Amino acid sequence: MTDIVVLGSTNMDLVTYVAKAPQRGETVTGREFRTVPGGKGANQAIAAARAGGNVSMIGAVGNDAFGTRLRSTLEHSGVDTDDLRTVEGPSGTAHIVVDDEGGNAIVVIPGANGTLDHLSPGDEGVIASADTLLLQLEIPIAAVLAGAQAARRHDVRTILTPSPAQPLPDELFAAVDLLVPNEHEATTLTGRTDPREAAVGLLDLVPAVVVTLGAAGSLYVSRDTDPVTVPAPEVTAVDSTGAGDTFVGALAVALGEGRPMLDALAWAAEAAALSVQREGATVSMPYRPEIEERHAS
Ligand code: RIB
Ligand code: NA
Repeated sequence: MTDIVVLGSTNMDLVTYVAKAPQRGETVTGREFRTVPGGKGANQAIAAARAGGNVSMIGAVGNDAFGTRLRSTLEHSGVDTDDLRTVEGPSGTAHIVVDDEGGNAIVVIPGANGTLDHLSPGDEGVIASADTLLLQLEIPIAAVLAGAQAARRHDVRTILTPSPAQPLPDELFAAVDLLVPNEHEATTLTGRTDPREAAVGLLDLVPAVVVTLGAAGSLYVSRDTDPVTVPAPEVTAVDSTGAGDTFVGALAVALGEGRPMLDALAWAAEAAALSVQREGATVSMPYRPEIEERHAS
């Protein structure tokens, strides 16, 4: 079983389902409200654990009811939470509007995630014991950088999801093995709007890139290979929140098991496609048998 450590955020997602998101100054009546455990770090951890990985999460929750629920949700999916701190103050929250096409708009309030600005004693040992470290950008960049550099020191593969989109220091890229931006993030990092050009441009910074393209699948390129597009299964999206995280969590498991990249990308696409057909981030993520069944068919 592949060992995966996630260093990242936990958020309670406060999700409103509405036909069409309101414009500024507009009031609309929605269909449903749900609280769903999420956050890019927790999402990737749960996706990887359900896909069959042996997963630990380094992160922080607040000492509130959301924090208790975030921790137990991770544990129920089999994620080790020994290195998930509980800190004074509120948990992270994500305020999400999902429309009838399954698209979303999100405001994140970091809460406890904002306290994670350095590694704690012991974190480096946890990272060193893994095969793969998963990183995103919903915790302070200093901790992301420290985690990536610790992974580098111990030959642990690092996969960075550069989300939310922001400019990043070169020293972080220098410690990343695989970068997985979506189209928007690839453009923010390179100034190029064409995903293929953006992906190729990013090879100046990292050895391999996967640009996620939503329903159009993903685009892979590395310093040794030409760009290849891997299609996604055709499905009707209900809620795409966390689909990118599901993709990365499943991808990490597949790569850790030694699957070739293109097969791993197709496997991850099945996991993400299953998740978008159901509401919510973590709660919509498939377990391994479901992914296997789809991948085989
Ligand atoms: O990537 C999806 C996640 O982004 C949601 O679960 C939400 O918490 C936001 O952080
Ligand atoms: Na979903």
